[in-house]
Amino acid sequence: MERTGHLRWLTSWLAVLSALFSLSLSTEIEPRASWPNGPLVTSGRWITDATGAKVTYVGINWPGSLETMIPEGLQYQSIEALVSKIKSLGMNVIRLTYATEMIDQYYDNDEKDITIQQAFVDALGQQDGMAIYEKVVSNNPSFGAETTRLQVFDAIAAECAKQEIYVHLDNHISKAGWCCSPIDGNSWWNDVYFDVNNWGRGLSFMAEHGKSWPNLMSMSLRNELRISLNDTQVASSYNWEDWYKYVRQGADAIHAANPDVLIFLSGLDSDKNLTAVVQGAALQLGTATFNRDDFEGYGDNKLVLELHVYDNILGTPSSDCSEITDRLFNAGFETLTNNATNQFPLVVTEFGFPQNESTATNSYASCLLSYFPSQHAGWMIWVLGGSYYIREGTQDRDEDWGLLSHDGSSWRSSDFVNKLLSPAVNASMAPITDDDDNSSDGGSGDDNSSAIGLRQSQPGVLLILGVLGAVTLAFCSWQ
Ligand SMILES: *[C@@H]1O[C@H](CO)[C@@H](O)[C@H](O)[C@H]1NC(C)=O
Ligand SMILES: *[C@@H]1O[C@H](CO)[C@@H](O)[C@H](O)[C@H]1NC(C)=O
Ligand SMILES: *[C@@H]1O[C@H](CO)[C@@H](O)[C@H](O)[C@H]1NC(C)=O
Ligand SMILES: *[C@@H]1O[C@H](CO)[C@@H](O)[C@H](O)[C@H]1NC(C)=O
Ligand SMILES: *[C@@H]1O[C@H](CO)[C@@H](O)[C@H](O)[C@H]1NC(C)=O
Ligand SMILES: *[C@@H]1O[C@H](CO)[C@@H](O)[C@H](O)[C@H]1NC(C)=O
Ligand SMILES: *[C@@H]1O[C@H](CO)[C@@H](O)[C@H](O)[C@H]1NC(C)=O
Repeated sequence: MERTGHLRWLTSWLAVLSALFSLSLSTEIEPRASWPNGPLVTSGRWITDATGAKVTYVGINWPGSLETMIPEGLQYQSIEALVSKIKSLGMNVIRLTYATEMIDQYYDNDEKDITIQQAFVDALGQQDGMAIYEKVVSNNPSFGAETTRLQVFDAIAAECAKQEIYVHLDNHISKAGWCCSPIDGNSWWNDVYFDVNNWGRGLSFMAEHGKSWPNLMSMSLRNELRISLNDTQVASSYNWEDWYKYVRQGADAIHAANPDVLIFLSGLDSDKNLTAVVQGAALQLGTATFNRDDFEGYGDNKLVLELHVYDNILGTPSSDCSEITDRLFNAGFETLTNNATNQFPLVVTEFGFPQNESTATNSYASCLLSYFPSQHAGWMIWVLGGSYYIREGTQDRDEDWGLLSHDGSSWRSSDFVNKLLSPAVNASMAPITDDDDNSSDGGSGDDNSSAIGLRQSQPGVLLILGVLGAVTLAFCSWQ
């Protein structure tokens, strides 16, 4: 071979190498650099991100819908410290709750949200309100007299984005306060405080407001729909037919304001029953059945089901795990399987237990925390904080279901966190492969498998690169 021939050969060879190298770099870096890889979409029983990867929601509830309408816990901790606690568990989402009343007040106040200082004084009285306000500001020095409640929501979303945690916004209640009972006036559309128009306006408002949060991935329609005390209302309206009418209305409102977010539908009986949707049964009192086409333009790829599973699900508590999982299957987990007429992703947006030294050996807790990962269901535990500014008339009320201690400085039960919770988080967060997918049709996320394929083949590309590099070196030294 001539010397120039060798050079030309070597030049082309190097061009091939550099092309392969940049391919491997781009496939490695791009998906990570664009977290959160939204918008999320659904495909059958899966939620997938824009790279095609299947996403499982694993997170925690953070209430902001009690009397102050300010997310709880900030009189003891900074937002950064609380988000870091969540992050330390490896979780990827918070369920941030808000009350429709917050948006009602915004409109009543010339389209200005009220300040947190005012909100604390309104809920706790002048003296106690100011004292708590001062504590909140001393822990969160970027806040001050001008800071509004929505700016606190913004700051939480921003810190979560910084720590790569999604936000799910939950319309928890109409009139702010502790939820949920049949007698609180917030139970069903047209209940004493549950004005349908204000509800729709609130959903639109928050969907629009949350557009500025890069990590707002999903929103609920309403927490724990349930019977009210009004027998006339229960007889005429507490049924799947009216449920469907209002759910479509609310979902349309969210989708029109913010077409990117996933929309969570919650069932009857305090969100313990999704059977009519999952089984495609008649939506009684009527005869129509659930139809994705009724959610125009988004019924196929934006709807998620949510379920609440406290230990009294469907009867008396049981310590028999197979009995519990049978009940969960019947309540809605069936939607994750081929048995379902309507397959949807499912997220258990509430479940929880008192946190104390015996929680780590609680058989209900261990049953749920092994079942959820095995089904690739999403889940969010109740609740982050260890206290409330005010709940049911008591200031600084302790929350013994809080993962955190009263002042948020430590876990109430580190045994529960280390022995049950963390392993379940890890199991749920493990990447989902096609082998995990026993939902056959109804969408395995194959539509975007090329994106996954590239990432998975990256070690292969690197191997080929290495071999070619070695051949080049050998060739040069042989010269
Ligand atoms: C596939 O990914 C593209 C973006 O890369 C996205 O627009 C599309 O919705 C995804 N499709 C599915 C089914 O996930
Ligand atoms: C009970 O519900 C009916 C039907 O929605 C309504 O007309 C009536 O005002 C309600 N009664 C009370 C006490 O709220
Ligand atoms: C769920 O509600 C339906 C009525 O829509 C009822 O027939 C069924 O028994 C309920 N399921 C459970 C498990 O309670
Ligand atoms: C699911 O469907 C299959 C086949 O129709 C049936 O054999 C099985 O019993 C069903 N499973 C449950 C839990 O309903
Ligand atoms: C711990 O919580 C359980 C409920 O999970 C409760 O039965 C028990 O009494 C609590 N123990 C203590 C010491 O508070
Ligand atoms: C999928 O299959 C695995 C293994 O057979 C099983 O453990 C799991 O329960 C199945 N999941 C669903 C959602 O059917
Ligand atoms: C969970 O995963 C994290 C990160 O991979 C690891 O550091 C931690 O030890 C795991 N925890 C458990 C309980 O397996």
